[in-house]
Amino acid sequence: MQSLSLLSVSVVIVLAVSYSDAFTRNDFPKDFLFGAATSAYQWEGAVDEDGRTPSVWDTFSHSDNKKGDGNIACDGYHKYQEDVKLMAEMGLEAFRFSISWTRLIPNGRGPVNPKGLKFYKNLIKELRSHGIEPHVTLYHYDLPQALEDEYGGWINRKIIEDFTSFADVCFREFGEDVKLWTTINEANIFAIGAYSEGFLPPGHCSTNTFVNCSTGNSSTEPYIAGHNLLLAHASASKLYRLKYKSKQRGSIGFSIYAYGLSPYTNSTDDEIAFQRAKDFLFGWMLKPLVYGEYPDVMKKTLGSRLPVFSEEETEQVKGSSDFFGIIHYMTVYVTNSKPSPSLPPSNREFFTDMGVDTIFIGNSSFFGWDAIPWGFEGVLEYLKQSYNNPPLYILENGLPMEHDSALQDTPRVEYIQAYIGAMLNAIKNGSDTRGYFVWSMIDLYELLAEYKNSFGLYYVNFSDPGLKRSPKLSASWYSGFLKGTVDVASQDITQSQSNFSGSSSL
Ligand code: BGC
Repeated sequence: MQSLSLLSVSVVIVLAVSYSDAFTRNDFPKDFLFGAATSAYQWEGAVDEDGRTPSVWDTFSHSDNKKGDGNIACDGYHKYQEDVKLMAEMGLEAFRFSISWTRLIPNGRGPVNPKGLKFYKNLIKELRSHGIEPHVTLYHYDLPQALEDEYGGWINRKIIEDFTSFADVCFREFGEDVKLWTTINEANIFAIGAYSEGFLPPGHCSTNTFVNCSTGNSSTEPYIAGHNLLLAHASASKLYRLKYKSKQRGSIGFSIYAYGLSPYTNSTDDEIAFQRAKDFLFGWMLKPLVYGEYPDVMKKTLGSRLPVFSEEETEQVKGSSDFFGIIHYMTVYVTNSKPSPSLPPSNREFFTDMGVDTIFIGNSSFFGWDAIPWGFEGVLEYLKQSYNNPPLYILENGLPMEHDSALQDTPRVEYIQAYIGAMLNAIKNGSDTRGYFVWSMIDLYELLAEYKNSFGLYYVNFSDPGLKRSPKLSASWYSGFLKGTVDVASQDITQSQSNFSGSSSL
């Protein structure tokens, strides 16, 4: 299996590209939103308080070989006021967070938990009172365990109805104050990681060399889950448009994980592999949402393993996303992988189906990777050209570093600055990108790395019972950028470094 794992380390090819070296917040439209992000299980903690029940992520984090869990995480459930204050001090314009389904509806369907409801109402009120726009994700890896146990979660069509009812509660209860909704977090990598490779919750896969899954079928489940994710999104979106949109005036989007992609050589084989990678990684979800059908190459390669939309479903899915949420961290070269005709369909998984090998660009390790801003600009340009220039929100972008490394996180500042510059170039070239969120607002329980590495603008001392937060250089830089005191030029990082006190406030 060729792994396109988020963790892999590979060949090193360094490209020197310089990116927009002089810009300020004012170069972006006034209504553009700059923010930072978290997700419920990674930030809230308080997993068994006030009626919350386990999600598949709780179960997954307690399975063998995992060294940490989100039981306490940053304790955002109790410390949300403190954190909103930090956001306000930083000058954040928006905050992206997700709603824990099992905090709001503990059994997955049925009665709403008043304490869960109160928590999210308070959080949203707190954000609004500081002028911070909430951007809410409904599903971020945390399916109610009860629904997984009852019918297998995302691989059963019953999920569509339960997800829609959960969304209904969220729109009804929070929709007066929430104008930006993302239904599903990075649906493509979720379907791949959770149902083909088994490294994301709920951890399904056929037996493979890397992960020991107790259940799953990598040759069919990723496509079934992907199909149900699209249908669940479309159903929630239809409901929003029929019942809430005219009063609440919000928008609803779907998000995907978007690698930057580039052919490894200029051979015809690699060019074809590049097209195939775009179809499998982007087109799988975006083509149905924009054009109402799966890419031809997927239909041809997968045959009956790819579910089919009925006519009615096609109509419902097509056009169901007001914007796309883009999650971008890195760029890879793609090269044609040698076909393995002997591999029967039942032994295939997403990457053998895609038939592409990937090679990381630049230095890449578990604790970080090189900034490849041209790869990001390429993604935005590709989306503009191939998908009718859809409105985009960059819902996650950031750099992991070893958790206890210095508060002077200069590589992170360089990374974020380069990517904001690349985004500005894309906007100047016509991309309809409307917002950008750094992952993450604060050090979190990490999806792949637990507490070993972190992406936060704020450091959290996880060994301190008080979970003290301290700003990193990146928080200070981002704050300066948002408040207009940072005029980005290379010497400004040095200036930010010398201005940065490393004390407990900005
Ligand atoms: C996920 C986050 C995760 C981050 C860093 C994203 O793809 O949405 O939950 O923490 O990657 O690995």
